[in-house]
Amino acid sequence: MTQHVVFSGIQPSGMIHVGNLFGAIRNWVELQSQHPCFFCIVDYHAITVPYDPREMPERVRQALLVNVAAGLDPERSTIFVQSDVPEHTELAWLLNCITPLGQLQRMTQFKDKARKHAESVYAGLLNYPVLMAADILLYKADRVPVGEDQVQHLELTRDLARKFNQLFGETFPEPEPLLTQAARIMSLDDPTRKMSKSEPEGAISVLDPPETIRDKVRRAVTDVGPRGDEMSPGVRNLFTLLEAAAPAETCRHFLDHYRQGTLRYVDLKQAVAESLIEVLRPIQARYAELAARPETASEIAAAGAERARRVAREVLQEARERMGF
Ligand code: ADP
Ligand code: NA
Repeated sequence: MTQHVVFSGIQPSGMIHVGNLFGAIRNWVELQSQHPCFFCIVDYHAITVPYDPREMPERVRQALLVNVAAGLDPERSTIFVQSDVPEHTELAWLLNCITPLGQLQRMTQFKDKARKHAESVYAGLLNYPVLMAADILLYKADRVPVGEDQVQHLELTRDLARKFNQLFGETFPEPEPLLTQAARIMSLDDPTRKMSKSEPEGAISVLDPPETIRDKVRRAVTDVGPRGDEMSPGVRNLFTLLEAAAPAETCRHFLDHYRQGTLRYVDLKQAVAESLIEVLRPIQARYAELAARPETASEIAAAGAERARRVAREVLQEARERMGF
């Protein structure tokens, strides 16, 4: 099998939720058995919209431990915190100097977030995709597992790699997206929007206790959306969650009832809640073990940063030399 270098990141912008778990982390756990992987808690990305600095250390710590509890292996993969590796921001600056301003201004996610945080749109929000390009290129990663919403950013990364190589000499591979097979999980409050860390009301956190999960799933919206033959977005989302968390025959059972018109949403919701609780139980147990020792997170972060920097220093040095430093 061809080996690739894989890079992926997750923002410590809130509690890690089951959308992150099913849409990304599970896939990363698979990838790390096949390829050398870099997994990064991208805290410098999480400050591009308003945030509370007092919450940041705990969010970073939690993101690190949740990922490890969910199966990322710090022995096998390089798991680290972005701000521990200053080479990311240095390469980002170098790349900024070859990034067309117009391309950043046209980014869909920039336009969305700029609209949402209209009173505080800073240059960091515009430059976010350049930092993301630096994250990836710093490890010469050639495969990047991304969701649909990051494809445009990865396209910029490819453009920047190509442009850098043309201007300064062959240095970076053009990374390709690994589009996740997993369906995206939608918000329980509003199933037309994706479940997101920034909207915790509609999200199930990987660390939510069973009662909270039961309560949130019970209150999940099921009846908005198109009438008629088509499954409503809320019900579809419950099935997506069930597919991610329960055995195939359980899903088939409920789908049969749905098709026959005998499905009771309360039963479907109960099955979803109980399956999620089962999937999360071992992760939460492992998290509790890891969190019991206060030094664990900082030890993992320190070892990861050291390992990341061994590569990052070298690649940055190469880029600097090519650019005339
Ligand atoms: P969030 O939007 O929750 O802040 P991130 O931007 O940190 O998530 O994304 C981390 C990873 O999780 C990405 O690979 C992203 O595609 C995936 N992801 C985020 N939200 C969902 C979702 N609702 N369903 C499936 N995957 C998701
Ligand atoms: Na996001």
